Amino acid sequence: MDPDRRVARLQLSHHLIYYLISFSVVLSASWAGAIGPSKQCGRAVGNAPISQTTCSGQRYDYYGLAAYGTVPSNATDRYGDTLGGFGSAVFFDQSSWNKGQDGSYHGMIWAMPDRGWNTNGTLNYQSRIHKFSIHLCLAPDASGSHPSPPNMNLTYLDSVLLTGPDGVPTTSLDADATGFISYDGFPPLPRATYDGDGFGGPGLTNVRITLDCEGLVVDSDGAFWISDEYGPYIYRFSKYGKMLLAIAPPPAFRPLRNGTVSFSGAEPPMFEPDRFPRPLDPTAGRANNQGLEGLTISPDGRFLYAMMQSAMNQEGGPKKKTRRQTRILEYDISDKNSPTLSHEFVVTLPPYGDESKAAVQSEIHRLSNGQLLILARDSGFGRGADETESKYRHVDVISTTGATNLAGKWDSTNGSIANAKGILDPNITAATYCPFLDFNLNSELKKFGLHNGGPKDDRLLNEKWESLALVPLGQEDSNANPEYLLFSFSDNDFITQEGYQNSGRFRYSDKSGEDIDTQILAFLVSHGQHAAAMHNAEL
Ligand SMILES: *[C@@H]1O[C@H](CO)[C@@H](O)[C@H](O)[C@H]1NC(C)=O
Ligand SMILES: *[C@@H]1O[C@H](CO)[C@@H](O)[C@H](O)[C@H]1NC(C)=O
Ligand SMILES: *[C@@H]1O[C@H](CO)[C@@H](O)[C@H](O)[C@H]1NC(C)=O
Ligand SMILES: *[C@@H]1O[C@H](CO)[C@@H](O)[C@H](O)[C@H]1NC(C)=O
Ligand SMILES: *[C@@H]1O[C@H](CO)[C@@H](O)[C@H](O)[C@H]1NC(C)=O
Ligand SMILES: *[C@@H]1O[C@H](CO)[C@@H](O)[C@H](O)[C@H]1NC(C)=O
Repeated sequence: MDPDRRVARLQLSHHLIYYLISFSVVLSASWAGAIGPSKQCGRAVGNAPISQTTCSGQRYDYYGLAAYGTVPSNATDRYGDTLGGFGSAVFFDQSSWNKGQDGSYHGMIWAMPDRGWNTNGTLNYQSRIHKFSIHLCLAPDASGSHPSPPNMNLTYLDSVLLTGPDGVPTTSLDADATGFISYDGFPPLPRATYDGDGFGGPGLTNVRITLDCEGLVVDSDGAFWISDEYGPYIYRFSKYGKMLLAIAPPPAFRPLRNGTVSFSGAEPPMFEPDRFPRPLDPTAGRANNQGLEGLTISPDGRFLYAMMQSAMNQEGGPKKKTRRQTRILEYDISDKNSPTLSHEFVVTLPPYGDESKAAVQSEIHRLSNGQLLILARDSGFGRGADETESKYRHVDVISTTGATNLAGKWDSTNGSIANAKGILDPNITAATYCPFLDFNLNSELKKFGLHNGGPKDDRLLNEKWESLALVPLGQEDSNANPEYLLFSFSDNDFITQEGYQNSGRFRYSDKSGEDIDTQILAFLVSHGQHAAAMHNAEL
């Protein structure tokens, strides 16, 4: 198969020339129109905040949706595999962020898919991290009756494939219900045993480390920290993709079946659809597919934070109404070879809908003031789902000031911080949770012709939003509150009718019949230190 046949349109715009390393491909904007170097880019949004919050004395304002772009569902990476759900996690290379003479912005971003195409069962997809350049021009016409075309493009540059400490590729197949794989100096690692090529084709039996990647951080050495759902573990990989370190979380996090660790997420391989673990749900530890979804690093590089998607099974999981108490781990990584658990907190997830289900979290982002942004949302609503109207899709703020440090005290095997109904132990104070920014405001979405709810067309917001990245706008007025663009990428679950896995050799068409492009949004936010100081004075 000729790879060029399947990669998107090649474009050598002079804005992007700096990024053309080996080969590059502009993946976005089927629209070809008015945004070019001749037109000046602007600020995009109004001066009045749409929403704001003050969390433990820190003030945040949301000014509006500033940028929108897409990547086609059938775009492929340099290995010939569908790019797919790379919105599971993103990490912005802050040093690359630049403003051009025409007022447009560009930069470099790392993005990571989870398990490859798995809507019909897990496959032998090798975990990987993609590198993109991003280019955007903040000038949507928000006032007119015509929505703005997309104003943000992503250019695919490269990918890094992940391997074990021995250089053997990782897989994404469901972890074995019993057993693990051992390496010197590593905790017991989740493994998958499978016959043949892992795509249903013939071959010998293989055993590989298996990963379901969800969180991504790049450190000052260029190494990748990744959080995963099977372990749920945190890994460090070299910039070339070789596993250097694995952190097993405290015993309370480890999934138990029959009283012993069992890493299976109950998502059988496509070619062995009946291979379910017994019991289906672990009795304690992380619930199936509810592992370490969020990973972030403090701007000084000292602390790494990893957060569970929702409550663990001994403390309210996995039921949607009771899985609201979820834990966040803080590791001191001053010594990158020997991380230590420094704090652990509980965050009570916000309720949504008439039944007060917990809006589980898909990503976190640590700010320089010590607070964290959290992406919490419902599931089962939006593009690719049966129902189109999402009720809760937010970026909110968490403050851990005054929250109980659980580290060491509440971490034993079977140790619980809440009862089966999700009621927190009265001895524990949860982090402060401050609702902030709503993705679903149709008044903002309509600037780009997008909508939450309504018809199932390609401007319906995708179901799954799973990543956050923040970059400063660098405005000239030093008296103003600093402004930022807050990016979120959606995860399309590799849903396309023209899909490839196994280095282009395995062809698939998702059974939904859909082609779901990756959508990318950028919100303009500010962090108002002055406003916060005033607020404190009033108190
Ligand atoms: C993706 O699909 C579109 C629409 O069918 C087609 O025009 C385009 O060439 C395809 N791109 C790739 C990379 O295959
Ligand atoms: C995005 O790409 C389209 C098509 O190549 C181009 O017309 C548009 O100017 C680009 N926009 C930005 C902001 O780079
Ligand atoms: C954990 O709790 C379960 C159910 O209460 C119990 O059967 C099991 O023995 C406990 N496991 C450990 C290691 O304490
Ligand atoms: C747990 O025990 C049951 C009953 O003995 C068995 O069928 C099942 O396979 C065991 N599960 C695991 C993960 O060991
Ligand atoms: C929780 O508090 C109660 C009293 O308020 C005390 O009896 C109990 O030991 C505490 N439990 C823990 C685990 O600290
Ligand atoms: C889904 O998997 C089954 C095997 O479990 C296979 O027979 C079927 O063709 C697959 N469907 C698609 C759309 O690939």
